[in-house]
Amino acid sequence: MGCFLFPYVIFHFLLFNFPLYTCLCNHHDKSSLLQFKSSVTVNTSHYYSWLDDVCSSFSSKTESWTNGTNCCEWNGVTCDMAGNVIGLDLSCSHLQGQFHPNSTIFSLKHLQQLNLAYNDFSGSSLSSGIGDLVNLVHLNLSYSVFNGDVPSTISNLSKLVSLDLSSDWGSVDDPMPLYLSIKIDPYTWNRLIHNATKLREIHLDGVDLSSITENSLLLLPNLSSTLVSLSLSNTKLHGKFPSGVLSLPNLQKLDLSSNEWLRGELPKSNLSTLMRHLDLSDTAFSGEIPNSIGHSKSFNYISLRNCKFGGLIPSSLFHLTQLSLLDLSGNGLVGPISSTITQFPKLHTLQLAGNKLNGTIPSWCYSLPFLSHLFLNDNQLTGSVGEFSTHSLKYLDLSRNKLQGDFPNSILELENLVGLSLSSNNLTALVDSHQFSKLKNLLLLDLSHNAFISINFDNNADILPNLQFLYLSSCNISTFPKFLASVKNIEVLDLSNNKIRGSIPQGFHEQLLHWKDIETIDLSSNKLQGDLPIPPSGTAHFLISNNEISGDISSKMCNASSLRILNLAHNNLTGHIPQCLGTFPSLEVLDLQMNNLHGNIPQNFLEENAFETIKLNDNKLKGPLPQSLAHCTKLQVLDLGNNDIEDTFPHWLETLQELQVLSLRSNKFHGVITCFGTEHPFPMLKIFDVSDNNFSGPLPASYIKNFQGMMNVSDNQTRSLYMGTHGLYNDSIVIVMKGQHMKLERILTAFTTIDLSYNMFEGEIPEAIGELISLKGLNLSHNEISGTIPQSLSHLRNLEWLDLSWNQLKGEIPMALSSLNFLAALNLSQNQFEGVIPTGGQFITFENDSYAGNPMLCGIPLSKSCNEDKEWSSISRLDDEESGFGWKVVTVGYACGMLFGIISGCHLFFIGKPQWLATLVEAVFNVRMTKQKA
Ligand SMILES: *[C@@H]1O[C@H](CO)[C@@H](O)[C@H](O)[C@H]1NC(C)=O
Ligand SMILES: *[C@@H]1O[C@H](CO)[C@@H](O)[C@H](O)[C@H]1NC(C)=O
Ligand SMILES: *[C@@H]1O[C@H](CO)[C@@H](O)[C@H](O)[C@H]1NC(C)=O
Ligand SMILES: *[C@@H]1O[C@H](CO)[C@@H](O)[C@H](O)[C@H]1NC(C)=O
Ligand SMILES: *[C@@H]1O[C@H](CO)[C@@H](O)[C@H](O)[C@H]1NC(C)=O
Ligand SMILES: *[C@@H]1O[C@H](CO)[C@@H](O)[C@H](O)[C@H]1NC(C)=O
Repeated sequence: MGCFLFPYVIFHFLLFNFPLYTCLCNHHDKSSLLQFKSSVTVNTSHYYSWLDDVCSSFSSKTESWTNGTNCCEWNGVTCDMAGNVIGLDLSCSHLQGQFHPNSTIFSLKHLQQLNLAYNDFSGSSLSSGIGDLVNLVHLNLSYSVFNGDVPSTISNLSKLVSLDLSSDWGSVDDPMPLYLSIKIDPYTWNRLIHNATKLREIHLDGVDLSSITENSLLLLPNLSSTLVSLSLSNTKLHGKFPSGVLSLPNLQKLDLSSNEWLRGELPKSNLSTLMRHLDLSDTAFSGEIPNSIGHSKSFNYISLRNCKFGGLIPSSLFHLTQLSLLDLSGNGLVGPISSTITQFPKLHTLQLAGNKLNGTIPSWCYSLPFLSHLFLNDNQLTGSVGEFSTHSLKYLDLSRNKLQGDFPNSILELENLVGLSLSSNNLTALVDSHQFSKLKNLLLLDLSHNAFISINFDNNADILPNLQFLYLSSCNISTFPKFLASVKNIEVLDLSNNKIRGSIPQGFHEQLLHWKDIETIDLSSNKLQGDLPIPPSGTAHFLISNNEISGDISSKMCNASSLRILNLAHNNLTGHIPQCLGTFPSLEVLDLQMNNLHGNIPQNFLEENAFETIKLNDNKLKGPLPQSLAHCTKLQVLDLGNNDIEDTFPHWLETLQELQVLSLRSNKFHGVITCFGTEHPFPMLKIFDVSDNNFSGPLPASYIKNFQGMMNVSDNQTRSLYMGTHGLYNDSIVIVMKGQHMKLERILTAFTTIDLSYNMFEGEIPEAIGELISLKGLNLSHNEISGTIPQSLSHLRNLEWLDLSWNQLKGEIPMALSSLNFLAALNLSQNQFEGVIPTGGQFITFENDSYAGNPMLCGIPLSKSCNEDKEWSSISRLDDEESGFGWKVVTVGYACGMLFGIISGCHLFFIGKPQWLATLVEAVFNVRMTKQKA
């Protein structure tokens, strides 16, 4: 959200307020100054643009420095009565060049104030000569492009009151030409703190203090009677920060921000009562915020953003009448926001986002006179949003809460608004686009994902001219917003999940070419028709899936070579796939599934590419497969199912280390599947689907033996619950389970299946299959497989469905299969099995159709009994347990496997099963299950 970044303004000037004496300056000092002047150049062209924000005016102070004049009258120079130079302020002077180790500045022995901030000393190191300036009281060398270790002689400066060596380059936009860092080692730090006992201000932002230990930090309270301001932001400090420092009696400003490894707590009681500015953001400070924080009445700035604080927000915080900024976002705070405040007359920024706050938005939030930033997003706030009576608001973010009721119309009157986000709540509103006409400054508008928001864009109103980020997903929009044609500079356009019908206006196709900064265009899930719009060349994400777009993918698409996500799935696109798509260097997701594309798959995938997901399934593509697919070393999902590809098995893909899903389903692949000889072929594969092809020969035992990704992968071993982490795009897959096509909208990483059905495989089921312990589904049906079921199949303890139907299997069904506790679907029909059907475990739940077409099978549930004795003995064994069905048997029998449950809802199991059983299972497993009949 670029528009919420504010330039980090740094004002650490030492303002020199000295009376000017008109005495004649001392010759030595004058010549030292002139020599210094000649050692540097004044360069007004080369400087960093961010300096504009900091140095309100640049001046070439040294221009007035000429030999013939009195140096005490030169710009930036201050003398004492005797004509000694005691003050030198060359901040913001465009100076450039090396700072000489023997610089004549170090010979200005009377100097009390030295300010060289905001110049460019080109990575010079600071030499030990600085220790010669023993009279220095104020030293400011900040942001002057110094580099390297601070010399230990700095500890000679025992009179120092303020020290500023900040060089926090991380917070400015311009990249630095060199890698620079000023370092202070523990030896120098310890000597400095020991000796410079008058220090009141220490500003070392961005200085490398990584070697400073907890013990050295413990010296800081040495400065107890003097320290007023301590700023150590972004210094790589780590360990525990001594909480005593926060209690130093004179401390007014403490900035420890951006030290993610720095731990600490706020003191329970005696936080400095003079504290005005406290910034602990982006540190590991934790614990509760003590109520005593409200005793420091001078506070005007409190930022505890992105720390680890928990507990309630102390109510005393809401009685700090000076306060102008309060940022507690990104912690684990709970409970309500106090509904009573004393007064917050100066508060301009209130950020409580990203906590677990509940209750309603207190009414004072709507009426603070100077409030400009209100961020309450990502909490659990309930109730309705009130009407705003303050017009100072610039940024309002209430997204991702549980707010409901009507969208307050007063928001549309807030003409200073720059950012407005109310997404992912339960708000309702009927808005006509002309109602946005007052929001002339709006850069960001996000109303996505609410209960019911309907925006009418029928009229031609010229609104939102400065918009850059527009998120209107699920807003019941039915016409393409015409005002977009006059928006100059959009970066994100999300109109997904609306009801926009008909062709995209010609004007939009043309406008697209003018949006140079666009990053994301998401028009998916509408009813758009007509030609495919071509995203401008810088676009990173283009999604227009689930529409009715027709025609070809124009070769103009080749200009959009910065794409990372291209999702054109579920349309009516025809023609060929532009070959250039394989050469886009950053393309991670290419999803063209469910269209009418024909011709070849792109042939020339680059050696170094970014592809993670390629889905070309359900088109009319022809083979052969390009061998260059093997260049896609980051590929996780390859789905080429349901095309007309004629080829042999692409064994050259077996080297892909990340490949988790390979689907070649329903094509014309043929031949024998054999391993090419890689030691660990397909090491990550979890879904292997080659069903409905013309493969022949034995089952691919050499692969089955080696699918590491299906062997005993414990759930906590897998990196995340779902595959694919693209934010805007979720990997989905269609699999066939229990004879039904099912679409998994997201692919669980624990989902492991093998589908070899509908081919011409022959021979026996390899014993090695028993090693694929994580397997959830196995389908070998409709082949010519012979032999018996290997005993090892009973090792697949996670198996949820097993289909061996329509083969030539024979022999008995191994009793051991009854130990497969999650087996929910079994099809052994149309084989030549014989003997008794196992009775225990899940087998109690399978019906006749699981066994049909095996004339030599007998026992429950078939009507053909084997022999009376056996059958009765098994039933009486059940009777031995509790009455009716044994608890164990019942619960096991109706337990949903984790995945089967998540995917299809347990209701599949309950079809035709008695209600009381379902209720029992719910009670036992404490789960809620859908019981509608399909
Ligand atoms: C300044 O002028 C004096 C007297 O004219 C001369 O001796 C000296 O060298 C000059 N200094 C510089 C730095 O030009
Ligand atoms: C700095 O001055 C000292 C003593 O005058 C001299 O020995 C040294 O070489 C000088 N260093 C440089 C880099 O000029
Ligand atoms: C402390 O400062 C004094 C006076 O400048 C100096 O003589 C002494 O060496 C310094 N001590 C340390 C440990 O730096
Ligand atoms: C708010 O959260 C707190 C702490 O989690 C909880 O005790 C309280 O019941 C919640 N209140 C409401 C209104 O949900
Ligand atoms: C959303 O609001 C509607 C009524 O406006 C209510 O029926 C529904 O339960 C709410 N949903 C949630 C999740 O709060
Ligand atoms: C898709 O395109 C084909 C051929 O152009 C056409 O016959 C068919 O009706 C279109 N389908 C839809 C849903 O637009």
